[in-house]
Amino acid sequence: MNPHIILLGAPGSGKGTQAVKMVEDYGFLHVSTGELLRTEVKKGSSLGKAIQKTIETGKLVDNPTMLELLNANCDFNKSSYILDGYPRNIDQVKALNQLDLVKHKFYALYFDVNMDALQKRIVNRRSCKKCSRIFNLAFDPPKHSSVCDSCGGELIQRSDDTEEVVKKRMTVYNSTITPVLDYYRGRKVLIEVNASKTPNEVYAELKEKLKMIL
Ligand code: AP5
Ligand code: MG
Repeated sequence: MNPHIILLGAPGSGKGTQAVKMVEDYGFLHVSTGELLRTEVKKGSSLGKAIQKTIETGKLVDNPTMLELLNANCDFNKSSYILDGYPRNIDQVKALNQLDLVKHKFYALYFDVNMDALQKRIVNRRSCKKCSRIFNLAFDPPKHSSVCDSCGGELIQRSDDTEEVVKKRMTVYNSTITPVLDYYRGRKVLIEVNASKTPNEVYAELKEKLKMIL
């Protein structure tokens, strides 16, 4: 079994984009906590409605809910996972340390990115309602602005991808990430990737770094 991989990085740093490539090439299971939450929102349950409110203000969903979602969707003893978007604060690091993931080899990949570029990436993001493929109207446009090239599904904009909410998400990220990075650096499992380059260049660097650990 490959080591588990944790993806750390600002909103729009390319975690989802790179995870798809890594799944294709290395066969990881990709779990994005943002996607798990959006699935819950789509169900329209009372939990989903509460989650939607939180997401649309750019704040973090509470840690017990996140832990419950992870436990329901991951079996770290059976497959190698890419954990995209978790942990996001030091309490979530501690919670993750109680789970089976840390009984196995794991690394944290940190997408280090120039924050100035992110607003433009995010407001231009579109994703497929059906297969979740990510596009970008500015950097990676679909052939038709509202149709997925892969499956013909409808392309939608996330409700938290507005300028105002993105600003809040960035503030939350900047105020929570440092202890998380320090923790994994201290454990000598942090691998940094320059995520300011083009997606293909980022992936080339990532693959070189993965060669050392896979
Ligand atoms: P989540 O869905 O995880 O959002 P995020 O962390 O803000 O990250 P994004 O998905 O926006 O960015 P990404 O890094 O995946 O970038 P992508 O590859 O799509 O979380 C959403 C919300 O859910 C949170 O705000 C919070 O409320 C809640 N939540 C989630 N996890 C939680 C947790 N653990 N605890 C509590 N709450 C939680 O790329 C973005 C765009 O840029 C795309 O259009 C892409 O095509 C383009 N792009 C990608 N790479 C490049 C590149 N190198 N150059 C140019 N464009 C690029
Ligand atoms: Mg994402």
